[in-house]
Amino acid sequence: MSATPGTAQHPRARRVPALLAAAALVLTSLLAPVSTTRATPAPADTEIVVSAGPVVFVDDGDTANVTLTVRTADDAALARPVSVDWSTGVGTATASVDYEAGSGTLGFPAGTPSGTERSIRIPTRESDGGETAETFPVSLESRDAEVSGGPAVVVRAHDLAYLDPRLPTDERVADLLGRMTLAEKVGQMTQAERANVAGDPAVVTELGLGSVLSGGGSTPAENTPEGWADAVDSFQARALATRLQIPLVYGVDSVHGHGNLDGATILPHNIGLGATRDPLLVARAERMVATETRATGIPWTFAPCVCVVRDDRWGRTYESFGEHPALASVLGAAAVLGFQGKHLDSNRSVLATAKHFVADGDTSYGTGEGEYTVDQGITEQSREHVEAVDLPPYVAALRAGVGSVMPSFSSIDWTDDGLGNPVKMHANEELLTGWLKEDQGFDGFVISDWQGIHQIPPLASDSPTTQQIVTGVNAGVDMFMEPSQFERFHTRLVAAVQDGEVTEERIDDAVSRILAAKFELGLFEEPFADRSHADEIGSAEHRAIARKAVAKSQVLLKNDGDALPLGSDASVYVAGRNADDLGNQAGGWTGTWQGYSGDVTEGTTILEGIQAAADDVTFSEDASAPTDGADVGVVVVGETPYAEGFGDVGGPEWAWDPADGGVPREEKSMSLQPGDAAVVEKVCAEIETCVVLVVSGRPQVLTEQLGSIDALVASWLPGTEGAGVADVLFGERRFTGRLPVSWPRSADDPVVNVGDEDYDPLFPFGWGLTTGGRMPHLDEHRAQLQEAVLDPATGVPPAASKAIATSDVALLEERDGVAHHILRSALPR
Ligand code: BGC
Ligand code: BGC
Repeated sequence: MSATPGTAQHPRARRVPALLAAAALVLTSLLAPVSTTRATPAPADTEIVVSAGPVVFVDDGDTANVTLTVRTADDAALARPVSVDWSTGVGTATASVDYEAGSGTLGFPAGTPSGTERSIRIPTRESDGGETAETFPVSLESRDAEVSGGPAVVVRAHDLAYLDPRLPTDERVADLLGRMTLAEKVGQMTQAERANVAGDPAVVTELGLGSVLSGGGSTPAENTPEGWADAVDSFQARALATRLQIPLVYGVDSVHGHGNLDGATILPHNIGLGATRDPLLVARAERMVATETRATGIPWTFAPCVCVVRDDRWGRTYESFGEHPALASVLGAAAVLGFQGKHLDSNRSVLATAKHFVADGDTSYGTGEGEYTVDQGITEQSREHVEAVDLPPYVAALRAGVGSVMPSFSSIDWTDDGLGNPVKMHANEELLTGWLKEDQGFDGFVISDWQGIHQIPPLASDSPTTQQIVTGVNAGVDMFMEPSQFERFHTRLVAAVQDGEVTEERIDDAVSRILAAKFELGLFEEPFADRSHADEIGSAEHRAIARKAVAKSQVLLKNDGDALPLGSDASVYVAGRNADDLGNQAGGWTGTWQGYSGDVTEGTTILEGIQAAADDVTFSEDASAPTDGADVGVVVVGETPYAEGFGDVGGPEWAWDPADGGVPREEKSMSLQPGDAAVVEKVCAEIETCVVLVVSGRPQVLTEQLGSIDALVASWLPGTEGAGVADVLFGERRFTGRLPVSWPRSADDPVVNVGDEDYDPLFPFGWGLTTGGRMPHLDEHRAQLQEAVLDPATGVPPAASKAIATSDVALLEERDGVAHHILRSALPR
């Protein structure tokens, strides 16, 4: 039933000390089903396996059905009879009171087909009044076959107030909280990583884990919707084998689609969505993502990043909707509404996470953690600046009802009291508890980032230390992403509460927030995957939504002589390394954490989109094929995949995906890579009309090449639907995208943001040409201004840049009149 890869074994031995320390917890949780198998003597025939599910649920008073399945290695019918002795053992349920103890022998005669199931039926006795779940093990032994799994029968909890869906959430939370032990409460605050529990999922029961996540690229062995749902369900069954049967909430980074799932619909990364300026589209797109995610059993995404990117050398630039808080606010809120829908318990909804709180996009170059240059660094700003630039998207996300917030790995060092005293966001009580929870009234829960508290000083080799845990909890973190150190975290937090370093009130507050989310998600009623929309994953309808988002995200920076749109009868010469590479156009957080070049998943490359739109297409990646006869050259260049840290300009280079073979990826740069520049130069010199598409997570400086390019398009990281690019190239749709970040003139001076005093980008924030069609007045004015000011070789002059950018900000802030006025006054007379 569960698909857990063999590579992800969690060495049980490492857990022993922690388990001893958690003895109090073990008493309160149910007997680990695994232990019953250990008693089974060495099997006579390993070619035949009799298996039983690890957990069997039964309602109080009903008969439990323990199903045994017999399988042969070669899938042939049994050559000899197989008999299995079974007997009920001692658990938390009481024999003769709660169930009929028993034993017997079950036989599979010779000739039984492999895969045949037979059931052991064990009656339970109905009890009066409410009860928590009780369990008893069933041990299996056979001389004829190997026995895999010794099931635990769980008689479900019943007739308790918190189980009653008619009661309001706060009453259910209070009732449940009142029944919980300290160890159970801390279990709810603990999140482990899939790979570290897959090998020995009984730990989910033993610790009463509140959550499991899949990190980037952490997939079940069978990477299909079915495989994911089975894997999530198998963890859920373990969570429900606890006394109180509190379901776990599984989380994943669906940051531009369910990126870890093979065949999912992958959207443009946020920076591309930022270019659409279309909140309705973003909401609809994330609703689609929520549907695909929840159909695999996952009700929680660590998205959207509502970061405001201020230095595009940051490797997470593409996770930002843009450099101005108004843009991140409008689209961040839209994303939250799309993910969560009206009802969190819908099978099209997932809980959203606003991240990374706060100012992750505003750290100073050179302050990054370890070898990173920007990522996880220090925000060195005044309180006033952070309030104006970095906090607004959280106000918007909170208003949209976002259910969880993730603190940033970065620190804040207020300039108000002088630099030199940075505080890690995971330790920032002022902002997490003071601003977020108290001032803003956030009633969701705070989930730490990946081992985020391990970075709280003083650093230690045995993180998370008690001090780090205490600091994090008291700062306001409610659930802790402790991918591998979850047991240590659990043990130490329980002890810290017993020692009085953390109050029970703080624990109760944290747990109440987590439980409330679980009730709202409907997990108590429907803990297992609702697969009814699984057939929509990667469907034509979903891909059509993504394709539209791609088309609307394309920003036409320059269009000399109306080079675009192209006619479908044009003879098109396509070149460049990003023309026919799904991995490159999807970027990081696709397939794996850092993403990789090549066929990461199913989709349409930009070249395939062009081929479908035009009859006469030649493709030569390095432009080595002869160019003669071509009417137009389309050169698709840009970046290759990266994610956090490793995407920082000047940062370290990733080399650890299987496809990398240990060879570091190319150095990150704000300029076009030399190979890309050479292809642009060749094609633009040889073909009359030349169109350049930049597929990248951030602007790439190409000021030198600008004069030779007829049409220039910022394509961002479109994801799986490359046909959306062709849609605007060939006029199926018109270009409407506008720059979400300022496009710098020089790689030496790459930090350019709307509002700067000497604002002088090559193309400003809000810049974007259009191709035909009727437009509203304001767009008409912008189009006129853009046409009047653009110099084909030197870009946009500073005064016009300022007008375009500030009018766009005014629009985002719903000051349309002001926007109009700015544009009209800037128009040359
Ligand atoms: C990232 C988060 C992400 C988490 C889980 C961290 O490294 O900073 O954005 O949600 O990992 O993958
Ligand atoms: C995981 C990511 C995580 C990162 C943090 C990676 O191994 O796959 O999900 O964000 O580690 O360092």
